[in-house]
Amino acid sequence: MKRMLITGASSGIGMHLANSYLAAGWHVIACGRSLSKLQASLPAAMPPAHPALTLCTFDINQRTEVVTKLKQIEALDLVILNAGTCEYMDDPVPFDSALFQRVIETNVIGTGYCLEGVLGNIKQGGQLAIVSSSVTLLPLTRSEAYGASKAALDYLTRTLAIDLSPKGIAVSLIRPGFVDTALTQKNTFSMPGIISGEQACTFIMQGLEKRKLEINFPKIFFFTMKIIAFLPNTLWRWLAIKMIKGA
Ligand SMILES: NC(=O)c1ccc[n+]([C@@H]2O[C@H](COP(=O)([O-])OP(=O)(O)OC[C@H]3O[C@@H](n4cnc5c(N)ncnc54)[C@H](OP(=O)(O)O)[C@@H]3O)[C@@H](O)[C@H]2O)c1
Repeated sequence: MKRMLITGASSGIGMHLANSYLAAGWHVIACGRSLSKLQASLPAAMPPAHPALTLCTFDINQRTEVVTKLKQIEALDLVILNAGTCEYMDDPVPFDSALFQRVIETNVIGTGYCLEGVLGNIKQGGQLAIVSSSVTLLPLTRSEAYGASKAALDYLTRTLAIDLSPKGIAVSLIRPGFVDTALTQKNTFSMPGIISGEQACTFIMQGLEKRKLEINFPKIFFFTMKIIAFLPNTLWRWLAIKMIKGA
């Protein structure tokens, strides 16, 4: 039985992935902050718990806890580092450095703690995937903290894809567009091309099956962003300023 570990399994994309890999016959190590939230999101965790499901609780901001717990989980075929948070900066003046720190710590430093714990436990020929965001294609209004954190994950993942190759570990960068989850349900702006958590899960599982270097979805949203990103930055800046003035 193949073994996979996923962080952020208590909700949204991570919850769908944990349930789907379990249904596909994998042994799933589902990680989250709260045991009761994990149990509520993963029906197989309710007694009598599914023998192929292991729950692991930690806050990814607590280095010692993260590293100690993850180092004990061996022989992994697939690791998906998915846990993350999003907070928008309504006004950059005064700059909310506490918000900036919260987002960077959870999304970037927390991912670093997870890597310290799991990287030595991925089997030869195994896979690592990190969930970034399509926000990294373009600078988007109010995304100073979230965008910077995900851009850091892009660079980190791309570098790991080079440096883990001699160890036989395939690395995938996952960049979703808008997905209907708790994270986006608090957004008050329109979210073009939004897809369901189930759809996101299918895109990710298919991409990982093919050991893709990048898993970008939904396609139309991604290519629209990509085309805009090819335009001169001055043009995007002009358009983005026009949009915030019109909002
Ligand atoms: N939804 C989208 O449109 C979208 C688009 C692009 C990228 N993403 C990325 O996809 C990933 C999953 O997001 P989602 O949309 O599924 O959001 P979500 O439903 O809010 O799930 C986020 C998950 O991360 C966990 N998490 C947050 N902070 C944590 C911490 N300090 N320690 C441990 N776990 C923590 C949450 O645990 P709790 O349940 O305990 O809070 C939850 O399980 C995130 O990295 C997000 O940035 C999402």
